[in-house]
Amino acid sequence: MLFLSVRCRTASQMVPLKRRKVVSTSSVTDTDIKATKYPDTVIFILERKMGASRRTFLSRLGRNKGFQVAEQFSEAVTHVVAENNSGDEVQAWLETQTVSRTTANVVHLLNISWYTESMATGKPESIQEKHKLKMSHTPSPVISAVSAKSYACQRRTPLKHHNLFLTEPLELLAENAELGENEGRSVAFRRAAAILKTLPLAVKRMEDLQGLPCLGDHSLRVVKEILEYGSSQEVESTRHSEQFQAMKALTGIFGVGVKTADRWFREGLRCPADVAKSEQRLNSSQQAGLLHHEDLSQHVSRAEADAIGQIVERAVQEVLPGAHITLIGGFRRGKETGHDVDFLITHPEEGKEEGLMPKVVQWLETQDLLLYQKTTRNSYLESKEGPARPPNNMDRFERCFSIFKLERRASGEAHSSAQATEGEPGGGEGRAPGPEPLPQRRPAGWKAVRVDLVVSPFSQFGFALLGWTGSKLFERELRRWAGREKNMSLSSHALYDNSKGCYLRASTEEEIFSHLGLDYIPPCDRNA
Ligand code: UTP
Ligand code: MN
Repeated sequence: MLFLSVRCRTASQMVPLKRRKVVSTSSVTDTDIKATKYPDTVIFILERKMGASRRTFLSRLGRNKGFQVAEQFSEAVTHVVAENNSGDEVQAWLETQTVSRTTANVVHLLNISWYTESMATGKPESIQEKHKLKMSHTPSPVISAVSAKSYACQRRTPLKHHNLFLTEPLELLAENAELGENEGRSVAFRRAAAILKTLPLAVKRMEDLQGLPCLGDHSLRVVKEILEYGSSQEVESTRHSEQFQAMKALTGIFGVGVKTADRWFREGLRCPADVAKSEQRLNSSQQAGLLHHEDLSQHVSRAEADAIGQIVERAVQEVLPGAHITLIGGFRRGKETGHDVDFLITHPEEGKEEGLMPKVVQWLETQDLLLYQKTTRNSYLESKEGPARPPNNMDRFERCFSIFKLERRASGEAHSSAQATEGEPGGGEGRAPGPEPLPQRRPAGWKAVRVDLVVSPFSQFGFALLGWTGSKLFERELRRWAGREKNMSLSSHALYDNSKGCYLRASTEEEIFSHLGLDYIPPCDRNA
């Protein structure tokens, strides 16, 4: 079931709108609401223990003063007003109401004093402690354990949540496990963090976690320590360890993976500057990574992503009019920053997309917009592929790993432009420009930005879109769900039903969720 994201209740007495009965939003714009002097305040008066006639009287009074007083409860209600009801009773009533989730939808539970005072002043009074219904206990997120399904692809995971103080440390341990190539351990920490991201409240006590799936002993130990002492010794010692910091810094160089970083670490290198000074032989992507390291280690903003989007759009339309370009990856999930920008390109006429990438790259290079690029060809052939691909294989689309040269504007916002500010040759296939890595030249009028371009045939577009929107854990969980629960194999190219021995076609993400027997989860809730 869906539940609404809510802010911590102890702070604001706002409560989660859980499983409220679905009443369409239109009910609040009923004809009974004459005035909308205060569009942000939608009041619902609870009839229980108040009686119908008093409720009618109070509602009419409110409407005559320009308040929105809803006849029926709905997701649009912001203030619930009760008389002679305890907070717990109203909370219990609220739990029985099911309305669809909207982001950050919160509702105030108030006693009648707030309403009468607002009537007296003719405007919605600011909420004080005395107005709030008193709760005898803080309901624990255990309630939500019912809704907390064990696969991340069964749940909604918003970008902003209430347990960053727990998920950040757990994800640090996950990252450390990845850097140590311990995948199982890393995934266990990521799953634990992901379940905490779905909770509608901040965890206060260990009891709050009762019944939740995905929390292994190790993660529980870490959480317990943080709840009791404010931090976890294991997390803090990892955070400050030389190995973790060095491995993070070295793998932070574009083109450097865990194996290379580990070798460098054992040879005494600790940071990009050490690598630059060393005699290491670097491949072309590593050379580019080092040369542009300072820019690439900065976050890419949404404005920069949009500016890159305009360039890509122009490049693609130049070489293949009618092609579709979609922003994918973290930005599609609503992230405000990213480490790169990802685009998926397709054309509604199957086959037209073939060979598109080299042309796009060539156009970008003639405009001097690329600092580096490496294109891989499409190697996916359904007939040859065989259905049961291992779940974490790289997909086989035509793909371009690149570094764009994005013009900065005086406004601070990056902007697309074909004009070069500094003469650096665009790379040929896999060729890195400039011989001399670090120290880096300081910003010319442009910023180096990592961009991934992926081309998919139209028939695979839905799968590619789903596969490239992420998050990585969400994708992993989708594939695990498909395999374990449905005996299907999902990739960014196709979905194969192993029981029936056939491919299941789909052109949209919705159809794929449906084939998998899952409720559709929109991109903004795939931030597992
Ligand atoms: P990113 O690594 O770009 O992650 O991969 P992100 O979620 O956009 O976050 P940022 O960039 O760090 O802000 C985007 C998605 O593309 C898929 C992954 O599922 C990932 O979630 N992907 C990436 C692949 O399918 N194959 C790859 O080789 C790389
Ligand atoms: Mn990305």
